[in-house]
Amino acid sequence: MNLQHLMPNRKKDVPIYLQLYRRYREAIALGKLSPGDRVPSVRSLASELNLARGTVEAAYQMLASEGYFVTRGAAGTIVSSELVKLVEQNNPVHMFASPASPRPQIQSATCKPLPFQLGLPALDAFPRKAWARLAGRNVRTLETVAMTCPDPAGYEPLRRSIATYLGISRGISCSHEQVFVTAGYRGALELVRHTLLQVGQTGWYEDPGYILARQFLEHAGMRLIPIPVDEEGIDVRAGQQRGADASFVIVTPTHQSPMGVALSLPRRLELLEWAKRRNVWVIEDDYDSEFRYHGHPLPALKSLDRGKRVLYTGTFSKVLFPGLRLAYLVVPASQVLKFRETINHLPGPGSILPQAMVADFMEQGHFARHLRKMRSLYATRRRYLVDALTQTMGTRLNVQPQAGGIHVLAHLNTSQCDKTLSATAEANGLAIQALSNWQVKKSSQSGLLMGFANFTTAEEAIVSAQRLETLMGHQYV
Ligand SMILES: Cc1ncc(COP(=O)(O)O)c(C=O)c1O
Repeated sequence: MNLQHLMPNRKKDVPIYLQLYRRYREAIALGKLSPGDRVPSVRSLASELNLARGTVEAAYQMLASEGYFVTRGAAGTIVSSELVKLVEQNNPVHMFASPASPRPQIQSATCKPLPFQLGLPALDAFPRKAWARLAGRNVRTLETVAMTCPDPAGYEPLRRSIATYLGISRGISCSHEQVFVTAGYRGALELVRHTLLQVGQTGWYEDPGYILARQFLEHAGMRLIPIPVDEEGIDVRAGQQRGADASFVIVTPTHQSPMGVALSLPRRLELLEWAKRRNVWVIEDDYDSEFRYHGHPLPALKSLDRGKRVLYTGTFSKVLFPGLRLAYLVVPASQVLKFRETINHLPGPGSILPQAMVADFMEQGHFARHLRKMRSLYATRRRYLVDALTQTMGTRLNVQPQAGGIHVLAHLNTSQCDKTLSATAEANGLAIQALSNWQVKKSSQSGLLMGFANFTTAEEAIVSAQRLETLMGHQYV
């Protein structure tokens, strides 16, 4: 391909890196560049087109983060071979997708997560060496009993480590007998549903709230009543009025998903008192309490549970990585036998090996070290994103100062629709989510949910924020 075809137009008001990025995408869509083709290095293209290296680098980074390019270190950068299907299916118009067109799902194994991707921890900072050592050690030494008849409640040393960790860090006093290891959070919900709930029963659900929990419970035959969330968390009084006959409540008290507020102490006490009086089960989803940037970590709702109505769930998805599919459920001591009976009829937490590795990871101090490191790393990466959004968007976005978690919520100060904007962003490789999509009832609240954990530099955050700004400005779709 003639490199002059990539030459940006300096008179246009579109930034040079963005023009370069688009030229490459166009070249791929038109077949001028094929999957597997090697592209010039940043240095040589910058010199050929007389551009700053940083400009070319920014375009290459965008192309790599969207899966168009694969970087292979000293072997150079190539057009991803995963693009074959995409090129066959799309013409250039589709490549510059409209909000209605599907997002190009072309992340290859070597790709970084998409910019702003929600729910993902910093994958680049995962301690792979320690993890690999523990894998080797456990493959060599796993006891026969664990290899032959694993406990369906989970690997006992892991359950003990979780109980100890929860006592120290979440104020939860429990024995390992009360801890059940599950296949992700949905494994925990499934266990609760089969043990304590009947199909058709009613439960409160935070609105806005975690979509996957809603979908899972509705699919399992539960009836969910949306209860509004304000700056003190779920509105318990509204819940008592709208869902007086509820059998369960599902809440994220430490860091409401997705609004980020904490359930106030008066509401916690009110909820627990009501649950005790009405024999209601409270499912506490404590999915990312480990990450807090100011103030003290809040104790879990479970730590106040005198009436023994709280079923506490935690996950390793945010503190380690979601592909592990490991979470846990802590049940009141009085319910342990019931849960033990149910687990014999469910698939359980899966393979023993990852459980044994996580147990060692916790016991040998890697877990505490990793959390300390991640807290400080996330505080930095969160600043990258908040600064980048403030710099590029000014007053068009109102970034909410959340005390914890690994995403930010930014309200739109413009009249733009968050759903259209997020669909446009998604179609252009930015994994931003619309707050309205997390809501059951229509409301005037709209905003953008953005993950920050995988912005490794301030520049990366700025490049992504500028891309969003361009899309917002043009609303080109
Ligand atoms: C609100 C909320 N709850 C729970 C989870 C944990 O889900 P899992 O353990 O299935 O990965 C997540 C993960 O993103 C979440 O966002």
